[in-house]
Amino acid sequence: MSSSASQRCSTLSLPAESKLSAPAATATQANGAADIAVELDGVTKRFGKITALDDVSLLVRRGELITLLGPSGCGKTTLLNLVAGFLMPDSGEIAVDGQRITDVPAYRREIGIMFQNYALFPHMNVAANVGYGLRMRRVAKPEIARRVADALALIKLAGLEDRKPRQLSGGQQQRVAIARALAMDPLAMLFDEPTSALDPEMINEVLDVMTELAREGMTMMVVTHEMGFASRVAHRVIFMDQGQIVEDDKKEDFFRTPRSERAQQFLSKILHH
Ligand SMILES: Nc1ncnc2c1ncn2[C@@H]1O[C@H](COP(=O)(O)OP(=O)(O)OP(=O)(O)O)[C@@H](O)[C@H]1O
Ligand SMILES: [Mg+2]
Repeated sequence: MSSSASQRCSTLSLPAESKLSAPAATATQANGAADIAVELDGVTKRFGKITALDDVSLLVRRGELITLLGPSGCGKTTLLNLVAGFLMPDSGEIAVDGQRITDVPAYRREIGIMFQNYALFPHMNVAANVGYGLRMRRVAKPEIARRVADALALIKLAGLEDRKPRQLSGGQQQRVAIARALAMDPLAMLFDEPTSALDPEMINEVLDVMTELAREGMTMMVVTHEMGFASRVAHRVIFMDQGQIVEDDKKEDFFRTPRSERAQQFLSKILHH
């Protein structure tokens, strides 16, 4: 493992005292490129006549949790898919950890992904699911065992290594999917509505794991309808509409006084729902 990878690995075991305080400056004020985990520069993505993302630029600092909000169809999932490498932009550049990755295929990107229906392998037990990507990368067995154990401890499922996915609740399955991504030691984690398919009583256990992950310093980009989570845990809110970023605010500012009419309308709709 490279030294930067082993440093990242240590984020799994940082002391809990690293609070959810925002990193020193917002991304847009950052001077040092070394602070930037994920960067989109003028990214446009079209599907036929639809411009799903329209010249979007965004910086996400290391250790920052940004939440992407906006009406259905505004481009949130498209943005995450571009960072993940599941889609390629028509123009613009994407960089992770200072490296341009615009043309790098998804499996080579060091990005963890937790999407709504990112299914586990049904025939593999929890440990095999979590270690799958590491086996594909031919990581040594003791190292796989250690990283699987670390990831399961973080999602609080140690002891359930031998269960098959069907023997887990929906919330537990989502947590295993998070562990599977974490075991790969990602530079950043992307979440697209990770709780929207869950029964209400299971939502919090997934949000708690995400909160813990944020506390430990993971860089996270999160699309969620859980406004309580967003207002508690996010550092910044990126509000999008029609493929563009309309607001990029500290979360306190966004929830207290959204500047644009579009954001005000969006918030009043979801908060009074
Ligand atoms: N594979 C595709 N082919 C054609 N159009 C697409 C495709 N994926 C997304 N789009 C279109 O691109 C736009 C952005 O879609 P996207 O899924 O990114 O929105 P979203 O903000 O995630 O919406 P939601 O909140 O409903 O998930 C929409 O107009 C959508 O219809
Ligand atoms: Mg979406």
